[in-house]
Amino acid sequence: MLLSDKIVLITGAGGEIGRAAAILFAREGASLVLADLSQEAADATAHAISGQDGRIVTCQVDITNVASVDAMVAVCSQEFGRLDCAFNNAGINLPADVEWQLEAFDRSMTVNANGTMYCMTAESKLMEQAGKGSIVNNASANGIVGSTRQPGYSASKHAVVGMTRTAAIRWAKLGIRVNAICPSSVQTPMTERSMALSPELRAHLMSMSPMGRLAEPSEVAEAALWLCSDRASYINGVALPVDGGFTAG
Ligand SMILES: NC(=O)c1ccc[n+]([C@@H]2O[C@H](COP(=O)([O-])OP(=O)(O)OC[C@H]3O[C@@H](n4cnc5c(N)ncnc54)[C@H](O)[C@@H]3O)[C@@H](O)[C@H]2O)c1
Repeated sequence: MLLSDKIVLITGAGGEIGRAAAILFAREGASLVLADLSQEAADATAHAISGQDGRIVTCQVDITNVASVDAMVAVCSQEFGRLDCAFNNAGINLPADVEWQLEAFDRSMTVNANGTMYCMTAESKLMEQAGKGSIVNNASANGIVGSTRQPGYSASKHAVVGMTRTAAIRWAKLGIRVNAICPSSVQTPMTERSMALSPELRAHLMSMSPMGRLAEPSEVAEAALWLCSDRASYINGVALPVDGGFTAG
């Protein structure tokens, strides 16, 4: 198992990708701290996991608030005494029609960029005490290439890639690896609802995929799993596309 005896924190654990990651990581032997803005959603993810050896703790967090993020990492310390891996997955994706409004730009930056930075900073302090750790940030294919529709989302995810590379260089000597995954559109109920309302969006998203389909949440979780694990022990500072070849073009 790739995460045997590992203590892993997942933010946005109540969402589609967070839930897929929690289920996969638990199956791979991890004990988990599942954090989300919605305590109820984090609890629902915990309930979706059954029959695994690892212990599961849930907590509420607002990643835009430093004190709240520090409290989340304190839960890891109090419950398990250390933190081996963190999957910083919480994020927002605002509708394209509001994305050119400056308030929306600010909100995307606050949650996706600042929030991820706050999480990495707090996590690294606990990992540094053990002299090792692995952080995986969930960016986006729109953190590698621009978006035709969403300036705030794309800017915030480029920021996540930038802070990933910079922290990877700075924290390598502390024994902490930092990487990012960059998924293109994922097949979630929300994506499906948006595509059902807009045939143009469906055509647009499909045209972005050389493989002619969207990613499954579990396919994104598999990439995060590997980067978290010791099997990726010399991988540091990468922004790994999980996009069926979209950014290869
Ligand atoms: N779904 C996609 O197509 C796709 C593609 C590329 C990247 N991503 C990225 O993957 C991540 C997860 O996406 P998803 O599709 O599972 O979305 P989702 O909306 O299902 O889940 C996101 C979760 O983050 C939580 N969250 C939002 N703001 C928060 C905050 N301030 N503090 C704590 N938690 C907060 C939400 O409560 C939610 O449970 C996001 O960072 C997203 O940008 C998604």
